[in-house]
Parts: sequence; structure tokens; C-alpha cells
Amino acid sequence: MNKLRKDFLWGGAVAANQIEGAWNEDNKGLSIADVVTEGAVDRPRIITNGIQKGKYYPMHKASDFYHHYKEDIKLLAEMHFKCFRLSIAWSRIFPNGDDKEPNEDGLRFYDNVFNECKKYNIEPVVTFSHFEMPYSLVKKYGGWTDRRVIDFYVKFVEVCFSRYRDQVNYWMTFNEINNQTDYNSDLSMLADSGIVINNLSEEEREEKMYQAAHYELVASAKAVQIGHAINQDNKIGCMINMTPQYPYSCKPEDIFQAQKAMQRRYWFADVQVLGKYPENMESYFEENNLRKDITDNDREDLKNGKTDFIGLSYYNSNTIKFEKNNPDFKFVGSELNVNNPYLKQTQWGWPVDPLGFRYSLNWLTDHYHKPLFVVENGIGAEDRVENDKSIHDEYRISYLKEHIKSMIDAIEQDGVDVIGYTPWGCIDLVSMGTGQMSKRYGFIYVDSNDKGDGSFRRLKKDSFYWYRKVIDSNGKNLFLEDEK
Ligand code: BG6
Repeated sequence: MNKLRKDFLWGGAVAANQIEGAWNEDNKGLSIADVVTEGAVDRPRIITNGIQKGKYYPMHKASDFYHHYKEDIKLLAEMHFKCFRLSIAWSRIFPNGDDKEPNEDGLRFYDNVFNECKKYNIEPVVTFSHFEMPYSLVKKYGGWTDRRVIDFYVKFVEVCFSRYRDQVNYWMTFNEINNQTDYNSDLSMLADSGIVINNLSEEEREEKMYQAAHYELVASAKAVQIGHAINQDNKIGCMINMTPQYPYSCKPEDIFQAQKAMQRRYWFADVQVLGKYPENMESYFEENNLRKDITDNDREDLKNGKTDFIGLSYYNSNTIKFEKNNPDFKFVGSELNVNNPYLKQTQWGWPVDPLGFRYSLNWLTDHYHKPLFVVENGIGAEDRVENDKSIHDEYRISYLKEHIKSMIDAIEQDGVDVIGYTPWGCIDLVSMGTGQMSKRYGFIYVDSNDKGDGSFRRLKKDSFYWYRKVIDSNGKNLFLEDEK
């Protein structure tokens, strides 16, 4: 029987724009995350044209990791973390994206963060682009719709690979690169592609998205090549959001619609892992006259820039139903999703499906036969601080427990190769989807609210102590608890 690796990378994950704050300190440039207001589950965040007076932008302060990183990393060490996933804010290094020289202050900040990790033997796992492209690239070039942005990104990653050569070995090129397939969502399009879609028709959005995605994939492949050339020990992954699309019923149309939905969402992994577009996408592009600019050099780059592992986030599954008015089985974002009657939902309406996690790990292994790194998983929930400052987050413990067990089943019973697990928002941070602080994922509570008011003091939740036991037993305690 397969076993969980002895050197399994237990840890947690965050992203610069959602945790750092200090949005305009030490010569950092404005990033796309800085121009998105707060929102709520029933009130979308607004993308403003630059910073507007009177609006609240939650990423400006976030969790103030920028000034708390020493204390935070010490707390992670106290939980016995083996690794810590974080991202480098592109606009700290190149404030405008197309600057000639990098910003030394920004580079120094991450030097300090990585050194702090090293002090506790915590392996940094670094994402280059986690929804935080310099805003100036959006304004000047239209984000990833312009081929020239590939060169700016390449320069950014080259500087980082060289500077942090001795501090970082695990890298990922783009966070959840496949989210942009939801091209009717303003936020996904801005976050992934740097596109402000305002008045674009659906056809225009789709066309822009596929072209932007192509440039990102070429940039990603170039990054892999550069990273390997700078340090052959570098392990460089892609990162995709894995949300399996279940058919609503055994009706063949539902099954086929779900298969189409899977193809539309996961071809990114084909390109990044196998080095080429899958047949179904090549024919979709041709038929619909999409992705017009692709060169032989691009294809060569894609072939030479295959990733070493697949990073993935898993939160939930989706269920898909065929619609009669969709005879071509077109899949656009989440419009075909229906409620799965077998699954409960979180406070924010996300289905909870631990077995779907095992299914996902199997699906990815069957398709790509590559090591997997689970770099996000978790439940966003409101926490209550008791008078004695304790926080009893049994809902989080229960969600994580079921998911970790499912992952271990996938490893030990299905033979899936997983190298690590970093649940999302291990330190409370601002939600990407809603811009709320109250949608908390962490083991470590940050005293701040949806308006950014609070002491920013850190508190340990019950899950803090629980997760440490999971790490110490390499997951075994979860199964022993069941036997009791
Ligand atoms: C993933 C992102 O989509 O999900 C994170 O990589 C995000 O940036 C996380 O925070 C959870 O989503 P949300 O909307 O609850 O913050």
C-alpha cells in the first residue's frame, strides 16, 4: 500500500494581496487588487477606475502581514509547519510592471520573509502571480491581452528566481489560471487576465480571454525554462482550481454537458503539464475563430516549459445540468450549475464535498500522472471570540478533518502522489470573492473586521492546536480518533 510521504509538506497558504496590506509602502506600485472595493455574499465587489475617494478597499490594509510577518511565521513554526505558501506581489518588485530596474525595497521584504522561514526550517512555496498584476499594465497594455506583457512577466520571474535562488525551491507560475474561463465574471477576468470587461459583449470577452490565456501560458512555460536554468533543483508547478463538474443525472445529455464543462475548465493543465493544447480545444478555437495570435515559437515554448508538479486548490464540486436551449453544449462559467441535493453548504453557500476531493485527486492523476500539491483547501466561516479570547472553530476542524482523510485515502488506497497540503488562509486574510475579513479560513485569528478596524492582534483558534497534532502524527491521528 502507498503511504503518505515521510517528508510530506504540511503547511498553509496565503497570497500577498490578501494578507500583506502596506499597499503603498516602500515604493510598491498599485496592483489590480488595490482597485477592488469590499463586498458581501449578495453584494459584488466593484472594480473602480483607479482609487476613488470615499470607497473602502480592503486589500490596502488586509491582515497587515507586512508589519507582522515575524510574529506570524513564528506562530506557523509553533504549529510545526513544514512549508508556507505565499505569493510575491509583482508590483512590489516592478511597481509599474514595465520598469527598467526592480524595486530594491520590495526585493528586501521577501528576503526577510524567506530568511524568517528558514530560521524555522519552513520551506517557502512561492506563487508569482496571485491576482496581483501591476495596475499600470492594465491601464497601459490592457493586461494580458498584449503580447508584450509576456516579457515583463519573464523579467519579473527571472529577477526573483535569481535573487531567491538559495532561499526558495518550490514555485508556481500563476494562481488558478483556469478561473478566467468564467469570463462573465468581472472579478475573475481582472484577477486572472488583467482585463476590465465593462462594456464588452460576451463574444468579445471570450475572444479576449482565450488570447490572454494563451500569452499567460507562454509566459508560464518560459518561466519554467528560466527557473530550471537558474537552479536545476527548482520544482516549478502550475496551479489550477479543481472544481469537478458532476453531471446532474445519468441522462446522457447531462453527462456530456458535464464532460464539456470539464474540458473547458481543465485544458490549461494539458498545456502546462503536457506541453500542448488538447484536440478538443484546438478544434473549438478553429471553429469559433478564437485565439488568433499563436506562433511556432509559442508552441515550442509550451513544449519546453512543462511543469514539474500540479498545484491545485479544491474547495467544492459543482453540479451541471444540460439546458435545452444550449444544443451545442456550450459551457459558460457557472450558469449551468444546479444545487446538488446530496451536499450541505457553507455559510457562504459553497457545497461541502470531501469525497469530491478524492475524486479530483484521482481525476488529475488519471489525466496527467504527475505529482500533485494541494495548495488550497478550507472553509470560509465566521468566528466568535469568547471573553477569554478562545475561539472554538469546530466547524473548521470538521471540514478539514474530512478533507484530509479523503486526501490520505486517495494517496494510500488509490496510489495518488501528493507532495504536500497547504490549507488556505492559515492566517486570517481578506476574502478574494467578497472582500470580507469576516469570511475567515485561518488557524490564526486576526483582529480586524470588514471595515479594517481592529487591533490586528493574533489569536490562536482551537484549530491551531488541532492542526499541529495532525502534522505531528503525519495525519495518522485522524484515523485513530475514528477508532476510539
Ligand atoms: C481561491 C483563491 O480561489 O479561493 C484565493 O486562490 C481565494 O485567493 C480562495 O481567497 C477562497 O475564496 P474566497 O472568495 O473565499 O476568498
